[in-house]
Amino acid sequence: MKRRSLISEWSITTTITGAPSSPELPNAGGLFIVFEGVEGVGKTTQIERVAAALRERGMDPLVTREPGGTAAGEAIRAVALDRSLILDPVAELLLMLAARAVFVREVVGPALEAGRVVLSDRYDLSSFAYQGGGRGIPSSKIQLLNELATGGLRPHLYVVLDGDVETSLGRREKAAADRIEREDLAFHRRVGEAYRQLAADDRDVALVDARGEIEAVFGAIWGLLLGRFPETFEPRMG
Ligand code: TYD
Repeated sequence: MKRRSLISEWSITTTITGAPSSPELPNAGGLFIVFEGVEGVGKTTQIERVAAALRERGMDPLVTREPGGTAAGEAIRAVALDRSLILDPVAELLLMLAARAVFVREVVGPALEAGRVVLSDRYDLSSFAYQGGGRGIPSSKIQLLNELATGGLRPHLYVVLDGDVETSLGRREKAAADRIEREDLAFHRRVGEAYRQLAADDRDVALVDARGEIEAVFGAIWGLLLGRFPETFEPRMG
């Protein structure tokens, strides 16, 4: 799977504004890792564990989430997940993509340019799983619009936490469930199935069994990251 940088799109912007275009690829030096999965599968806990382990190694990872990551992104997130609103699936997709357009340009791009490790709770795979698998929007349509939103920026790796949907949803406080969490079990099962299919189709999408203890799941994630990116995730000395 090809990974493209934002450079061509950024050149267009810089031509318009007259600023000098950067000779550097925006993702040069940085590492972009995305955590994905169904609701309540433990993404946030695992991202925090990975970030803490990187900090112990003297690194300064950026931990962020999508939709969100900026004031505009959080505002779009609030609309997208507001359970008092009824949103057509296409409107839902376009909100996610609007949040992504901001996220890529204001959060991820600059952090990668600065050479940082970016750990994100969700990115574009969520659109293929939720709006594609869950809502039934054809993935070809999502792909086209997603290209526009991301400028072609792909993560170096997606870590999909694969858990039991019933158990995961059971962990969530029902009364506090947002607009998407409130969908029925069949919806969330389709999302889980879509993630498995996406992992089967793409070597940059790794499925990790998330049904074990937190430490065991963390061990599996770390082993995966170490195998793919040994310079960043090398074992500690001493
Ligand atoms: P989530 O990341 O699960 O956060 P929390 O743990 O605070 O609930 O919530 C984000 C929700 O947005 C989740 O239901 C998945 C959904 N989502 C999409 O449907 N499509 C997308 O493209 C993205 C990024 C998220």
